[in-house]
Amino acid sequence: MKNMKSFNRILYGGDYNPNQWPREIWQEDMRMFRHAHINSATINVFSWAKIQPSEEEYDFSELDDIVDMLSKENYDIVLATSTGALPAWMAKRYPEVERTDYQGRRHKFGHRHNACPNSPVYQKYSARLAGKLAGRYGSNPHIKCWHINNEYGGECYCENCEKAFRVWLKKKYGTLEALNRAWNMEFWGHTVYDWDEIVLPNVLGDGMENDRTAFAGISLDYRRFNSDGMLANFIGERDAIREFDRETPVTTNLMGTFKGLDYFKWAKEMDIVSWDNYPRYDTPWSETAMCHDLMRGLKDAPFMLMEQTPSQQNWQAYNSLKRPGQMRAQSYQTIAHGANTIQFFQLRRSVGACEKFHGAVIAHAGTEETRVFREVSQLGSELERLGDAVLGSRNEAQVGILFDWDNYWALEYTSGPTIDLTYVKHIHEYYKYFYDRNIAVNMIPCDADFSRYQLIVAPVLYMVKDGVAEALEAFVENGGTFVTTYMSGIVGQSDNVHLGGYPGPLRKLAGVWAEEIDALAPEQYNEVVMNNGAVCRCGLVCDLMHLEGAESLGVYGRDFYQGMPAVTRNRFGKGHVYYVGTHMEEQGLCGILEQAVVDAEVKSIAANGDGLEIVCRTTGEDRIYFVMNFTDQEKQMPTAFLGKKDLLSDRIVTAETVLKKYDVYIIKE
Ligand code: GLA
Ligand code: ZN
Repeated sequence: MKNMKSFNRILYGGDYNPNQWPREIWQEDMRMFRHAHINSATINVFSWAKIQPSEEEYDFSELDDIVDMLSKENYDIVLATSTGALPAWMAKRYPEVERTDYQGRRHKFGHRHNACPNSPVYQKYSARLAGKLAGRYGSNPHIKCWHINNEYGGECYCENCEKAFRVWLKKKYGTLEALNRAWNMEFWGHTVYDWDEIVLPNVLGDGMENDRTAFAGISLDYRRFNSDGMLANFIGERDAIREFDRETPVTTNLMGTFKGLDYFKWAKEMDIVSWDNYPRYDTPWSETAMCHDLMRGLKDAPFMLMEQTPSQQNWQAYNSLKRPGQMRAQSYQTIAHGANTIQFFQLRRSVGACEKFHGAVIAHAGTEETRVFREVSQLGSELERLGDAVLGSRNEAQVGILFDWDNYWALEYTSGPTIDLTYVKHIHEYYKYFYDRNIAVNMIPCDADFSRYQLIVAPVLYMVKDGVAEALEAFVENGGTFVTTYMSGIVGQSDNVHLGGYPGPLRKLAGVWAEEIDALAPEQYNEVVMNNGAVCRCGLVCDLMHLEGAESLGVYGRDFYQGMPAVTRNRFGKGHVYYVGTHMEEQGLCGILEQAVVDAEVKSIAANGDGLEIVCRTTGEDRIYFVMNFTDQEKQMPTAFLGKKDLLSDRIVTAETVLKKYDVYIIKE
């Protein structure tokens, strides 16, 4: 948007809840944060009860003082709207603001992220509060971003939602005939004759335990509806803010590959994407990198890292400490992949309730003499030195990996052929190939401009919506390389099968027909015998394919379909299409992707990285390289960087330069 405020330094800070502390502590906070080079605070995230103590009454006196204090200290303030947790008075007076869960139980007052998105009371009071905040603080130049609600998610199955669902469906389908067809309601005689016969698909309807469903068409539409409903809540608050403040970007904090909301659709309504990065102790760094790329991909633009913990979490099964240097390296990885902020949850550790064990910049000891504080402070001084060096730069990529929430939902709803096929895992397996070789990737939606890429990878593209196959055909015809896999091209947007043989609309493109799909239990496996004789294990699902113009790259080694093609390559127009018909072990898959990369003439940022992660952000002529070691071994700096200066330390790279675990170099060319 034009005239939108932008950041002029890397925001460094995070969730700050002085309202949960006596005022004597505030000055101490300011002193310590200065010491840690913190320049930003996210405030008012969960203060609804305080700023609106009753239906009739608003009280901003304490928030005024907090904003004043931070403004005087020249903080970049991220001002939240507080609508992520309902106040008690509202739950008491209007019980319908509380959600009804998948089991059909109406909830009572408690917890957070708990409002029914279709409650008119919630809609009214959340937007009103956002408007009041914008009217009061919108002209303060220190407010650099609006943070609406907090981590939208969850579902509601109440009567208000049911009514709203019917309205949403009427708008989408127009007639009941179209709806019955889309949901294939002749099946089990589910035909509905009136809109008010439609019920929400929780366990009382067509939903089943463990997030399964008898009618994927209904459940998919419910997910779309629920995502749209919460998005409407977001828009309601955003528009209320816009009445007073047209210049400050508006965001809400997203959660990476979180399943519940169609983030590509959400991002269109957000000025800037922000997200909360909480890897587990065993999350591969490649998966975190993928999440960053996805969050950047939502708007194809730099994003905010709204939350990470300086050390441990409280809500995971095993909340291990971040090892010395790990938080710093994680932060640089985040910036490398497109972040313009590094913000923590939270600045001072809670005294009580469920987050008292959650890491924070200031620990319960209350001093700066802690390992975590020292690391936060060291990073703060480095970021201060970096200044605006990375701001305004972008990440470019020749490879696009398709990520689609409709597909995510549909693939995981489908009953058969196996329960083990989960979406993110398979996307990550393909992403990892590129990550390991320092080949930059953009995570892209189905309606992306494919012509910007040389290689497009669409693992398990189970749902192929209208227009997508045609766009992919045009991409390949013009010389692009396309890789897709088992469980692709099977259904359309309502989960009804594309008749005429798998992979449906991708069949012509791939030049194969998958006649049957075998499912293999975890203890079973088959093999792919590649044309060069190499053998690799495969399993999960095996497509029994016939060539229709494609060449076979490898065949099954066992079972009654021994000798049938398992992996193929088709020439289509000026380009190539790879079809991987089974879930292969990493090494085998790498061999295939290597060939695709050669076809597509895709370049690595640093092919000889030897396990180092190397990412590049560019502005005009400048290239800023982030070189990071997430392995357990010492690594030699690639020779390409010899003689160059590290922006963080001013050291010059020599032939002796090695990176220990979690070491980072930032090199500008
Ligand atoms: C989420 C929330 C925060 C906090 C952290 C703890 O990201 O947004 O309010 O609860 O988790 O990790
Ligand atoms: Zn509801």
